[in-house]
Amino acid sequence: MENELLQSLGISEATEQKLRALWTTGGIRLDLPVIDLQHIWLVALIQEFAQAAGESGDAVDPDRLKHLLLEIIDFATEHFTLEEQLTNAFNYPEHTTHKQQHKHFIEFLRDRLSDIKQGNRDSIASLVNFLMDWLTMHIQKEDKQYRDYLVRTNSNLTKYFQTMISRHELTVDRAQAALYNAISGKSEVGEIISENILSNVIRIWNTHNLAVHIPIIDLQHLWLISMIVELDIASKTLGSTKRQKIFNKVVTGAILYTQEHFNTEERIMKKFGYKYLTGHIKQHQSFIEMVNNRKGEGSGDDPRAASHLVEDLKEWLVSHIGIEDRNIYVALKDNLTEVQAFVRDLINEGRLTVRKKQLDLYNEVCGIKKTG
Ligand SMILES: [Fe+2]
Ligand SMILES: [Fe+2]
Ligand SMILES: [Fe+2]
Ligand SMILES: [Fe+2]
Repeated sequence: MENELLQSLGISEATEQKLRALWTTGGIRLDLPVIDLQHIWLVALIQEFAQAAGESGDAVDPDRLKHLLLEIIDFATEHFTLEEQLTNAFNYPEHTTHKQQHKHFIEFLRDRLSDIKQGNRDSIASLVNFLMDWLTMHIQKEDKQYRDYLVRTNSNLTKYFQTMISRHELTVDRAQAALYNAISGKSEVGEIISENILSNVIRIWNTHNLAVHIPIIDLQHLWLISMIVELDIASKTLGSTKRQKIFNKVVTGAILYTQEHFNTEERIMKKFGYKYLTGHIKQHQSFIEMVNNRKGEGSGDDPRAASHLVEDLKEWLVSHIGIEDRNIYVALKDNLTEVQAFVRDLINEGRLTVRKKQLDLYNEVCGIKKTG
C-alpha cells in the first residue's frame, strides 16, 4: 500500500534503498519528528536530480535539471526556515552560526543554476556529489548539535510542531508522511497530522453547527469534512510534480466518497418516503457535475485552481449539510429507530460500509460509542 503510493509519486526503488541505507547507518537519522521527515524528503529530491543527471548519456536535459535543482532550493529553504524558527524558539546558543551555514548553501546552489544551463556534465556530476556530501555532513554535525541541545533541555517538539501546523506555518503532506513512515517505520508525524485534521474538523463542525442527528449521515459528513481539511492542507503545499500527483489522488478519493455518501442519503430518503426527494437528488447531481467540470479545468499545474476547488467543495458541502440535509432529520425525526434498523440492514447486507477510522472520528467528535 505504502509502496504503491511511493511508486505513484515516482519514488524509485533505488531511491528508497538509498534512503533506507542512509537511515539505518545513522547518516540522516536524528530521531526528531518532522525534521527527519524533511531530511528524508530532501534526500529523495537530490536522488531524483542525481538520476536525471546520470541516466541521460550525453544528452543531459538542462531544463529538467534546472527545474529539479530549483525544487531542491525551494524545499531546502523551507526546511532551513523551519530549523531556524525552531532553534530560535528554544534559544539554541549556536542559532546564528547554523543559520549562516544554511545561507551559504543556498547561495552556492543558486550560483550553480547557470552551470546547469550550459549542460556541463562534469560540473553536474560534481554538484550531485556535493549535494549529498554537504547534506549528510551538515545533518551529522550541525543539525545533530541542535538536536542534542533540544534533547538536553527537554524541549517539547511535538507540541511545537502541532502549533506550527495548526497556524499553517508548517505544512506536511501525505506524500512526505508516507515516505517518512516507509523509511523510518515511525508514526508520530502521522499522529501530529491527524491531531491537526481533527481539531480543524471539530472547528468546522461546531462553527457551522453541522450535526444532522442521524448517526450514519453525521458519520459520513464528518468523514467528508476530514477529507476536505486534508485537501485544504495539501493544496497549500502544491508546487512540485509529486505534490500535484498526491493532490489529484486525494481529490479523486473525496469525489468517490461523496458519491457513496449521496447514495446512502438517497436510499434512506427513498425508503422513508421523503417528500423533497427529487429536489434533493437534483442538488446532489449538480454537485457531481460541478466537481467534474472543475476537475477538467484544473488539471493543469496551477496551485490556485486546486485551492479554489477545495473552497468550492467546502462551501457547497457546508451549505448543503446545514440546510438540505438537516431537513431530512426534521422529516424523519419520529422514525429514527426505524432508520437505524434500516442502516444496520444495509451494513449487514454489505451495501454500505463503515470503516473503523470513520467510526473513530464520529465517536471522537460526537462522543457516542455506538452507531448504525
Ligand atoms: Fe540545518
Ligand atoms: Fe537540517
Ligand atoms: Fe449529505
Ligand atoms: Fe444531501
